[in-house]
Amino acid sequence: MSSESEREAAAKAHWDAVWGGKTPEDVSWFQPSPTPSLRALEVAGVGPEARLVDVGGGASRLVDALLERGFRALTVVDLAEAALEAAKARLGVEAEKVRWVAGDVRALEPEAIGPVDVWHDRAVFHFLTEAEDRARYRRLLEATLVPGGVAIVATFAPDGPEKCSGLPVRRWSAEALAEELGLALVEGWRETHETPWGSEQRFQWAVSARFAR
Ligand SMILES: C[S@@+](CC[C@H](N)C(=O)[O-])C[C@H]1O[C@@H](n2cnc3c(N)ncnc32)[C@H](O)[C@@H]1O
Repeated sequence: MSSESEREAAAKAHWDAVWGGKTPEDVSWFQPSPTPSLRALEVAGVGPEARLVDVGGGASRLVDALLERGFRALTVVDLAEAALEAAKARLGVEAEKVRWVAGDVRALEPEAIGPVDVWHDRAVFHFLTEAEDRARYRRLLEATLVPGGVAIVATFAPDGPEKCSGLPVRRWSAEALAEELGLALVEGWRETHETPWGSEQRFQWAVSARFAR
């Protein structure tokens, strides 16, 4: 088995190459509008006063939609700086309202992103096929998500693809996901995502809460 630092270096090399070589509209996970994430925020009853981190946000347009809705405490994390630069270029001056963090979710210090009321992750956790990496992810989540906060996590569903961006993934049900993250499942549902070239991918969404202590 590879070491933690080897896995981080391999991921960075992979994602730097992806974002260095493709436009944001030309990747399988591209969405013209982040409708499922906005639905999840509604399910969770989250308003614009919430502090939110989009983990592995890449060049997603979620941040644009949240700025439009009045969110002002937004952080976007991604290990690929090129992805963050693409999002910043799209947003123009609006990008200055967002905290951009270039780093690996497995290795970041909590102070880099927290505290937050909402942890959002679309299609990042499923790349963590090693238990150690999932434990590191969970530690960061626990150190940054306030008690009473919610996590919105979307992965490939149990009948979804076995790979994403050419990398192996672990597929999750909503129940197993909430349990793995030590959270209480509020609601889970499935979504069929259509890639820019018209193929279908089954996603599993889970809105889970961190108990207030
Ligand atoms: C499949 S894309 C999803 C992007 C975005 N969440 C969306 O829905 O459009 C996965 C993203 O996670 C980033 N990523 C992958 N592993 C990561 C890690 N360990 N830490 C931080 N970012 C990561 C990649 O650079 C990429 O932007």
